[in-house]
Amino acid sequence: MRTLIENGTVVTASETYVADVLIENEKIAAVGAGLARQLSGGGSASFDRRIDATGNYVIPGGIDVHTHLDMPFGGTVSADDFESGTIAAACGGTTTLVDFAIQPQGGALKQGLASWHQKAEGKAVIDYGFHMIIREVTKASLAEMDDLVKREGVTSFKLFTAYPGVFFVDDAAIFRALRKTGDNGGLICMHAENGPVIDVLIEEAKARGETAPAWHALTRPPRLEAEASHRVLALAEVAQVPIYIVHLSAQEALEQVRFARDRGVRAYAETCPQYLFLDHRNYEEPGFEGSKYVMSPPLRMPGNSDALWRGLALDDLQVISTDHCPFCMKEKRLGEGDFSKIPNGAPGVETRLYLTFEGVRSGKISLNRWVQLNSAAPAKLFGMFGKKGTLAPGADADVVVWDPERRHTLSVKTLHHRVDYTPYEGREVVGAPTHVLSRGKVVVEGGKFVGRKGDGRFIKRGLTLA
Ligand code: URP
Ligand code: ZN
Ligand code: ZN
Repeated sequence: MRTLIENGTVVTASETYVADVLIENEKIAAVGAGLARQLSGGGSASFDRRIDATGNYVIPGGIDVHTHLDMPFGGTVSADDFESGTIAAACGGTTTLVDFAIQPQGGALKQGLASWHQKAEGKAVIDYGFHMIIREVTKASLAEMDDLVKREGVTSFKLFTAYPGVFFVDDAAIFRALRKTGDNGGLICMHAENGPVIDVLIEEAKARGETAPAWHALTRPPRLEAEASHRVLALAEVAQVPIYIVHLSAQEALEQVRFARDRGVRAYAETCPQYLFLDHRNYEEPGFEGSKYVMSPPLRMPGNSDALWRGLALDDLQVISTDHCPFCMKEKRLGEGDFSKIPNGAPGVETRLYLTFEGVRSGKISLNRWVQLNSAAPAKLFGMFGKKGTLAPGADADVVVWDPERRHTLSVKTLHHRVDYTPYEGREVVGAPTHVLSRGKVVVEGGKFVGRKGDGRFIKRGLTLA
């Protein structure tokens, strides 16, 4: 199978130039100006498919390193499985996901991994990898970490200072896991919020009779994200290993990352579109609408997003992910009358590139930086670069042809996720994929999914290149 993408503007994390992209089977075979002419030698060359990309950008497929598909959480299960979640991702220009497998309570990491393989195999339409959530740091699970890194291609782990009784682990456990990555080269990802103190604030608010969704945010103040960030960054500094903070939401937490980086800590962090485009005022929407935005960390007061955009531009933040963790309104209503029972999480896997392209249009980040944040940097940090995250000979042909002028209005009616709302309903966006290719096959064309269930493959990831 030979496909030629002609006359587009190729955009990688570092370069922008007009060129053709030749794809042979699953790989990029060549990228260069005038390739079409050279290959046809004046006559008509044999291509199975030619895609005219004149006036469009040709970018490496998006990589979303933070999703929760088919995840039991908050008394229910996230609404997208590996079929609907990866279809939604592909339609929005994302061609690789890294989802979070979970160690079962009292069980082995390997059990959690096997169960996530089962959820994904035969369903995913794009390639995927797994991080491993460690909920019990024991001699056995620490030993298993080596195995996951060396043999299973699972080279990153998530630990939590939040959610006591569910995922919370103490500082000594975090420190032991960090130390372990010093031996095996893995990367610890941290959910940084002070869970035990948040639980006291929740208890106090409930005792006063507070029930509204806004109290989810008011009991999780940014200071407690900054405090937990500071603490885990200090632990990484003492352990002398890199660390990655997930879903960073607040200026105060960002300051801690910057402070650590200035001290020489190999500290990395991601933020998500919800923290760039939504804010605390969304919790005040009438009725129970505020529950749509219940996620952890919560949306912050206006002003934080400006700091996050600056952080993205200046490399204090390295990655944009989505934390796609969707629940339908029926599930959100589990918390009607008790904000602490609203399942935490919101959809976003399909809307990341649409939303963040607004940052390019408004001059907050450059076009190359947009590609870096959404594709190249996550590929590097999570051990996939070269295969994923760039357009170069030998790389997987995960390619998006992006029309920078195409306008449309985001709506649950046209998005592909299996959730009954989008936090961005009615927002007009500019820029959209005309074609999305996953390992050389067109999987999205003209906004329609044309790929095949089960075509996505598990990616055994390498070590971080950060
Ligand atoms: O609210 C969120 N973020 N739900 C998903 C679980 C997590 O902490 O990432
Ligand atoms: Zn988290
Ligand atoms: Zn998450």
